[in-house]
Amino acid sequence: MASASEVLGDDASLFGERERELVSDLCEAGQSHLFSSWPPTGEDSEHKKRLVGQLSRLDETTPGGLVEYVERAKALLKSSKDGENSLAGYTPEVPPGSVLNCRSDEFVGLERVGAAEAGRTAFVLVAGGLGERLGYSGIKLALPSESARGACFLQLYVEYILALQKKSGEDCDKLLSVPTFVIMTSDDTHEKTQALLEASGYFGMNASQVRLLKQDKVPCLADNEATLALSSSDKYSVQTKPHGHGDVHALLHRSGVVKRWAESGLKWVCFFQDTNALVFRAIPASLAISKQSEFSVNSLAVPRKAKEAIGAICKLVKAESSMTLNVEYNQLDPLLRSTVNPEGDVNDPSTGFSPYPGNINQLIFSVPDYHKQLESSKGHVPEFVNPKYKDSTKTSFKSPTRLECMMQDYPRTIPSTSKVGFTLLEVWVAYSPVKNSPAEALAKAEAGNPSHSATTGELDIYRANCNVLKHLGASVEDPAKTTFNGIYVQLHPRIVWSPSFACTTEEVSKKIDCKTLQVSQGSSLVLEGENITINGLSLNGSLVIRASNGARVTVKNLRVDNKGWEWRPLDSAEGAREEERMRGFTVIKHETRVIEFDSPGEYTVDA
Ligand code: UTP
Repeated sequence: MASASEVLGDDASLFGERERELVSDLCEAGQSHLFSSWPPTGEDSEHKKRLVGQLSRLDETTPGGLVEYVERAKALLKSSKDGENSLAGYTPEVPPGSVLNCRSDEFVGLERVGAAEAGRTAFVLVAGGLGERLGYSGIKLALPSESARGACFLQLYVEYILALQKKSGEDCDKLLSVPTFVIMTSDDTHEKTQALLEASGYFGMNASQVRLLKQDKVPCLADNEATLALSSSDKYSVQTKPHGHGDVHALLHRSGVVKRWAESGLKWVCFFQDTNALVFRAIPASLAISKQSEFSVNSLAVPRKAKEAIGAICKLVKAESSMTLNVEYNQLDPLLRSTVNPEGDVNDPSTGFSPYPGNINQLIFSVPDYHKQLESSKGHVPEFVNPKYKDSTKTSFKSPTRLECMMQDYPRTIPSTSKVGFTLLEVWVAYSPVKNSPAEALAKAEAGNPSHSATTGELDIYRANCNVLKHLGASVEDPAKTTFNGIYVQLHPRIVWSPSFACTTEEVSKKIDCKTLQVSQGSSLVLEGENITINGLSLNGSLVIRASNGARVTVKNLRVDNKGWEWRPLDSAEGAREEERMRGFTVIKHETRVIEFDSPGEYTVDA
């Protein structure tokens, strides 16, 4: 092996023993280019130290260290070049799971069971992504989830967790010092996430309940030999990129958080993403399925059309072993063709959907099982590589690549005897992420796919609330058909409530007498507070009801008729705020009836 002094010459004296060892090891692993273009000793000494300092840090933070990373990368890059199929030899089956009708009494019962479990549940938000497709200047968590109440995603998530904990019936005070809400950040999102929490007083959550875990980036690879890529503008800096949300498991393990949860008696952990406002509507019923089915891992899923660009949850069986996990849509069709169905990825004629549920990457794990598993796996999940080759010879890349890992690959690391399944929910209840810029969203919509834009993310909240109220017997007018940012959409009455008001269908039914609720199409209704009851409301305009804790407000036979709020399409982007441009509309508040009580007491508002 080349020694550090052979590689570095007299520059070796700039470094300590461990750094010199690392340099030797890296050269042995084919990375001598990192040092070979250095100028003579005495020149650029600070820069040379900067590079070796960065390599030492990367060696500590990269799973297994830099040399192991390079070795893994060489193997994965070879498989990728050779076109090897990691699923070869597996036969797909539909895994065990529950298909829920979200308008049924069964669903209401499940929500009740799951809401009680929520008091012994931890929540993990993966929020380290760059959000390049969305192109928002801030962090995605700071984006308002909708324009009527205006809560940003982070606020909404904190409010849901607090409300679910409070309503669960558990003594949640004893969990105040347990990190029941973990946020995985990255260099790109950490400071802004921390600042948002601090500026808002943690949105009412006890700071000791929140833990931020920052993921590290990994080095980029320039070619099939896994040559570490130096920056094109700085030969003393290695390019780095995010390693993917799969880092969350190793971070949770390393931080000791999972051990803490297990010791505190927590039963479940829910993983969710940064911009899906609907996820907490799906969580209570899905928790109940985890409990009833005793699932170690429960993947929340939505119906999937054959060939839709969404991963599928499959049980993959090979000889005596099996694993249940997400299969990417482009891998599914060839896998099905080569095994169970020569027609490939096709719909089941009886349902009109693929038999394999569509993965939305919201997961619920059993804490005791997860804790036990992490003790042996340390939370490492298998990596993959996805180089963008310049041409079909696959000999060079368009730009440096890196190894990545995904949180939904966790089931690859658990015994095949573990109970892994899914909960299938209707899309309107569970999934409307904000991922795409207006231009990309329009292209997706024109191709007949969900646009997953800031526009639909907001409008789908109103749709979900209107669906719940209609199901409970309310008379809510049908949506208007309109176009925002070129995308054809349905604009339902803008009805929103805070999680403190209701987290489940049953709570809505107890607080609103839906048989006596009438809402016109152009109306907006905002309900903010735990103790609001509505017994008779006819709304044609906008109404905001706010009741602070301790104020109990009953609205009786009220009629509100005013000019309301208008969701007006933007004629031009000029003068509009970034958030408005992303949605393609501005909200004009012509007239509002506000009913607000901020001191404790019983209040009745009637006609
Ligand atoms: P996305 O697929 O939305 O990726 O991530 P992204 O990086 O945020 O956005 P693009 O691809 O650049 O447009 C799904 C979830 O995983 C988190 C994201 O924050 C989001 O909640 N994520 C992604 C991480 O936490 N870390 C990562 O390295 C990548």
